Amino acid sequence: MDIQFNDFPYPIYLEHDHFSQLKERLSQMSGKKFLLTDQNVATLYQEQIDQLDQLASFSYHIVPPGEGSKSLACYQEVMNHMVEVGLTRSDCLIAFGGGVIGDLGGFLAATYLRGINFIQVPTTLLAMVDSAIGGKNGINFGAYKNQVGTFYHPAWVHIDSSYLNTLDIRQINNGLAEIIKYAILTDPALLEKINRDKSQLNYLNLIKRSLEIKHAYVANDLHDQGKRQYLNLGHTFAHAIESISNHQVNHGEAVAIGLLWMARASFKLGWARQSFVPLLEDLYQKQGLFQTYYCDSQDLMKAINHDKKKQDLTIHLIIPLEIGKCVRQAIPVHELGQWIEAGSRI
Ligand SMILES: NC(=O)c1ccc[n+]([C@@H]2O[C@H](COP(=O)([O-])OP(=O)(O)OC[C@H]3O[C@@H](n4cnc5c(N)ncnc54)[C@H](O)[C@@H]3O)[C@@H](O)[C@H]2O)c1
Repeated sequence: MDIQFNDFPYPIYLEHDHFSQLKERLSQMSGKKFLLTDQNVATLYQEQIDQLDQLASFSYHIVPPGEGSKSLACYQEVMNHMVEVGLTRSDCLIAFGGGVIGDLGGFLAATYLRGINFIQVPTTLLAMVDSAIGGKNGINFGAYKNQVGTFYHPAWVHIDSSYLNTLDIRQINNGLAEIIKYAILTDPALLEKINRDKSQLNYLNLIKRSLEIKHAYVANDLHDQGKRQYLNLGHTFAHAIESISNHQVNHGEAVAIGLLWMARASFKLGWARQSFVPLLEDLYQKQGLFQTYYCDSQDLMKAINHDKKKQDLTIHLIIPLEIGKCVRQAIPVHELGQWIEAGSRI
């Protein structure tokens, strides 16, 4: 089920259990191959890494799992290793892991020697449906999310849904949150497809549909100046929640909360004519998704003020009007408190 969008610069190889193709593709590449992964993935997939280690000029680097690795310190540690290995512009970095590894790896590939080849091998549902395509990468700075980064595209993306077999429910739910975002943006039928027992979810189809939707928002706006900003639905709250929870609430969990808060606030503040909150609440309950986060609204405001989407005295919010339809609206920053209040209170 390979995907090559006509107007998209790189192919996405999407299958279940196709490690042999990954190995084959990498073996056909000349130059050094430097694989970046985290400790959890390295432990679970040591055998695959050992097989890749048989390829000519292969080396790898393992960082600790989790958001903490999207840091300057970690960036510097991996960069040191890349320098030691002597990677050149004709060599490549392979990001083998979840969104953290993809974001860190993309940023390293983009900045080392002003850009070397980059390959994404996402291993979480969230990374497969979202972060591995679109070219955004970066690291956090202090407590704040994605403050340093670039737009830089992989040469290709290898998605193997068999990696999902080792994910726990929490990590599956993180991916479901981003899929719910796509459904609210544009595709009510997609919501139906995930409104069933996890054992009955057709992950290959969900990933494919998610990528089609992401592609539709990203293809003509690679640098996030217009339509792509719709993908930030729920993310203004989400990034702030991640920051103030010190990343105890992870990205997907924060996105789930952010989506529900936006749906609730949109109805209460008169944007959505009918509430679709009960529908989301049912789905969240069925799948075990986070519904809320208790915090001080001043802390939330402070974190939102660091959000890249804030411009001067306004902030652009993506407001859901109904499932499948959203608008982008500049909101005066002083009105944000209303949105937080309306969204977070049941
Ligand atoms: N660049 C983008 O466009 C974009 C989009 C969305 C999210 N993101 C970023 O992605 C990050 C979140 O990604 P994530 O949810 O994948 O987090 P993650 O990379 O931290 O992975 C989550 C956990 O799952 C483990 N893991 C990874 N693959 C596994 C597997 N196959 N089996 C078992 N465990 C596995 C990891 O070790 C980690 O502990 C955030 O930093 C977020 O900001 C980026």
